[in-house]
Amino acid sequence: MSSFTPSFTIRPAVKVAGAVRLPGDKSISHRYAMLAALATGVTTLRNFSPGADCAATLACLRALGLEIQQEGTTVTIAGRGPQLDPPNRELDCGNSGTTMRMLAGILAAQNFASRLAGDESLSRRPMARVIEPLSWMGAHISAPENLPPISIEGSALHGIDYKIPIASAQVKTCLLFAGLLASGETTIEEPSSTRDHGELALEAFGARIERGRNRVSIAGGQLLTAIDTDIPGDISSAAFFLAAAVILPQSSLIVEEVLLNPTRSAFLDVLSGMGARITMIQVEDHHGELRGTLKIEPGRLLGIKVSGARSAALIDELPVLAAIAPYTEEGIEIRDARELRFKESDRIAEVVANLRRMGATCEEFDDGMVVPGRQKLKGAVIHSADDHRIAMAFAVAALGAAGESTIDSAACVGISYPDFFTKLESIVER
Ligand code: S3P
Repeated sequence: MSSFTPSFTIRPAVKVAGAVRLPGDKSISHRYAMLAALATGVTTLRNFSPGADCAATLACLRALGLEIQQEGTTVTIAGRGPQLDPPNRELDCGNSGTTMRMLAGILAAQNFASRLAGDESLSRRPMARVIEPLSWMGAHISAPENLPPISIEGSALHGIDYKIPIASAQVKTCLLFAGLLASGETTIEEPSSTRDHGELALEAFGARIERGRNRVSIAGGQLLTAIDTDIPGDISSAAFFLAAAVILPQSSLIVEEVLLNPTRSAFLDVLSGMGARITMIQVEDHHGELRGTLKIEPGRLLGIKVSGARSAALIDELPVLAAIAPYTEEGIEIRDARELRFKESDRIAEVVANLRRMGATCEEFDDGMVVPGRQKLKGAVIHSADDHRIAMAFAVAALGAAGESTIDSAACVGISYPDFFTKLESIVER
């Protein structure tokens, strides 16, 4: 993201009301696009994520010889099979760690050299987590101090048995994609279960995988077949609207056609566990991904401690959970979430600093924070750190504050949700 973009002003609101439909899920959009590239036939993806991150994935795929058409949010990709074309330039992943880490798994197995680079924020994010296991699979891959850019000399890969040390769906998916293109079998074990879109996407495109508890195996050399589908709304984007609904009494919000995959819906359990009233109206299954319509109304908002496996399951929702903590009765404690420091920004430091700007008391730990409840927030200038989830989390906190807030570098929301502010304004009542 560019570091200078206009700010956005948020005025306090009394409630949110109406219905929202979210842009397509970002995690699924990346995965379907990458597998469509490796498949035989033309894949059509409707409600593809309109964010800059997934646009970066499409741009990289185009540079690898893929013919991709896009009309609005409908994307068609003419698959090339497992072998892609050598790119004639560096592949620019922009701000997207998901693009870089997952594509590395595919590129490691190609018969050409490539280089993956990213923006300033991505250039600070750790890549050893994919470089090490891919090297064990026989990849020739390196990065200075394990930071981007990543240079890859494509080579033949072989399967491995690998225990992922820190829960990460990006790493798991990277290795599954590499395993698909490798000889033999690849087995991955994770410390706690993370989002399973990689597994479900592989199955959707016709691959057979074996799944056990926190374990997944894939046999190399399987061929994929194109699909035609629409992508459910992004539950991590929905989290901001759900959070707004629970902190503003009298709210009543419908969220339509949203992803309800159980490995992504921990935020719903947390909100209902704290006292919010959430109803699932209709649930359907498309290619193993559950989706449905939610109705949410505020109740008493108690508090919660999030730690262990639950922190990994809630990783993208923790910033907004912490941002609304002052509005809870008992406060929120987040532990075992050190990974937050390695996201698009140091999300622990940025959340704590912004809560303090709004007048809240909170305590920062290496792996999390404690934010006491029953605190009144005041309007403030929020520093987004060019991180989409920080900007959106504090836009929500600002709705319940006394006085106006300004989110700086607000255009960073375009990473996942370009129309976020317009949509938010369309459902708030003042
Ligand atoms: C993602 C996994 C998570 C998440 C990111 C998207 C994915 O990252 O934070 O926004 O699509 O697999 P990690 O796998 O690094 O935890």
